[in-house]
Amino acid sequence: MNHFLDIHKTDKAALRGIIDTARRVKEARLGRPKAMPDDDLPLKDRMVALIFEKPSTRTRVSFDLGVRQMGGQTMVLSGSDMQLGHGETIADTARVLSRYVDMIMIRTFDEAVLEEMAEFASVPVINGLTDRSHPCQIMADVMTFEEHRGPIAGKKVVWCGDGNNVCSSFLHAAGQFGFDFTFTGPVQLDPEMEFVGLARNQGARVTIERDPLKAVEGADLVVADTWVSMHDAQSARERRHNMLRPYQVDKRLMEHAKPDALFMHCLPAHREEEVTSEVMDGPNSVIWDEAENRLHAQKAIMRWCVGG
Ligand code: CP
Ligand code: NVA
Repeated sequence: MNHFLDIHKTDKAALRGIIDTARRVKEARLGRPKAMPDDDLPLKDRMVALIFEKPSTRTRVSFDLGVRQMGGQTMVLSGSDMQLGHGETIADTARVLSRYVDMIMIRTFDEAVLEEMAEFASVPVINGLTDRSHPCQIMADVMTFEEHRGPIAGKKVVWCGDGNNVCSSFLHAAGQFGFDFTFTGPVQLDPEMEFVGLARNQGARVTIERDPLKAVEGADLVVADTWVSMHDAQSARERRHNMLRPYQVDKRLMEHAKPDALFMHCLPAHREEEVTSEVMDGPNSVIWDEAENRLHAQKAIMRWCVGG
């Protein structure tokens, strides 16, 4: 049994295996109806709890569908409706859920909730986003990049905007998959230096460049995310927008990257804020493949969690 808590906490060979499996399961489904089960039904007779303490479209639908395609069933739970949101400890919740279900995916605020869940659950626990990371997203992003451009090792990825949870998982992946990572954004919203150091220690070249046009020079992939994450105070919205406006990904910025540079965004996007519609809907954008690949990547993650 394996937990999937973060990219930097998962063995390198396992990560590569997950990406390869994801591509294989995607391939095997070509031409099939969208909801048809996988032949070997690795989750047959298994129940998976999907706990959400924050909103979600992609994570909710792709996990739910993925479990069903693999022959299992899901229970989608909202944190606020559970005793979890009313004082029952995470540890006790984990112990109880482990008596009912075979796997737990949780989207929560504090990373400590995820960690406590994993410590006290006797079934695999998957990180469906915390304030600090979003590993399933970046597994799908690595898969998407490699589908379009081959191995990501040695390539240049540029993050534009807020050094947030999704940015952190990209840094974790830079160390594990061996690509270069450049952050461009205001100093107040720099990525976590602990993760910058971690990636560098693993041999990844990590650069912080305040000038967005310089930052994207030679980029193979340009990435944006919302300027206000679900865990950010709404009262900080205007201040963040003012700081982040120079880092919007528009056509002019993309023209400074490599001509065949891809554009990614984990979605939901705020059109004309962090990215223009022209880029989102333009020829370099792979955002819909990226969203689809959440399904395939997470199916591979769940297979790995149950020892497949
Ligand atoms: N990218 C992502 O995790 O989307 P949701 O918030 O819709 O799940
Ligand atoms: N950084 C965003 C990602 C949403 C999928 C957030 O945490 O709200």
